[in-house]
Amino acid sequence: MPILSAEALTKTFETGGDATRVAAVGGVDLAVAKGEFVAIIGASGSGKSTLLHMLGGITRPTSGRVVLEDVDLAMLDDDALALIRRRRIGFIFQRYNLLPELSLLENVALPLVLDGHAGSTCDERAIAALEAVGMAGRATHRPDELSGGEQQRGAIARALVSEPALVLADEPTGALDSANSARVLDLLRELVEQRQQTLVMVTHDPAIAATADRTISMRDGLIVADTAAATGVA
Ligand SMILES: Nc1ncnc2c1ncn2[C@@H]1O[C@H](COP(=O)(O)OP(=O)(O)O)[C@@H](O)[C@H]1O
Ligand SMILES: [Mg+2]
Repeated sequence: MPILSAEALTKTFETGGDATRVAAVGGVDLAVAKGEFVAIIGASGSGKSTLLHMLGGITRPTSGRVVLEDVDLAMLDDDALALIRRRRIGFIFQRYNLLPELSLLENVALPLVLDGHAGSTCDERAIAALEAVGMAGRATHRPDELSGGEQQRGAIARALVSEPALVLADEPTGALDSANSARVLDLLRELVEQRQQTLVMVTHDPAIAATADRTISMRDGLIVADTAAATGVA
């Protein structure tokens, strides 16, 4: 049984006053096994982010469906969907998306706070998550006091703090130099592997995709290739 599947998934955007329609995703079928690391690769505008957002319940599809851990996301109202996003899915963005007015600790604890956990539990788990990414020493710092690589490590801690089944990352190293990029990537891969989490990562970098178990290539909103790594499993 796949942990995540998409069936005939489409997303069409209506843009501008002339109601031009853009088929960002044109019909995607996909099944991801538990523990798999899947890279999604493709040119800018090929629909990678739109697909990832639908897989993560951020964007509702125009048609088709997404099933995560046997739950059909289309059956959920907005509140129930928000709950799944908070508890079962960790999202990592290119621009980190840490809240600027909160400390790193508060940022990482936020998913747990929103989920109604006791303050002491939130802090303990957030500290543990920061330790896992080597950032516990910066817990009281605000995001603007941290480098890009440090912010992304903090964002990884935030994504993993709720121990989600599925981790989705959209160009997580796209704003980093090559040294930080390698560090963030190694860390992310190591952590999801330790926790037996499933990782779907969008990247436009073939060298990064080559480190995945499986690479899915997109063009014009469609999957045009889906290949297991020579030494990987899929
Ligand atoms: N919110 C939106 N409104 C209108 N068009 C969009 C929106 N989001 C994405 N698109 C369009 O959908 C296509 C795919 O975009 P996207 O999924 O962001 O591609 P990628 O992540 O591969 O660069 C592009 O043509 C883009 O302009
Ligand atoms: Mg994108």
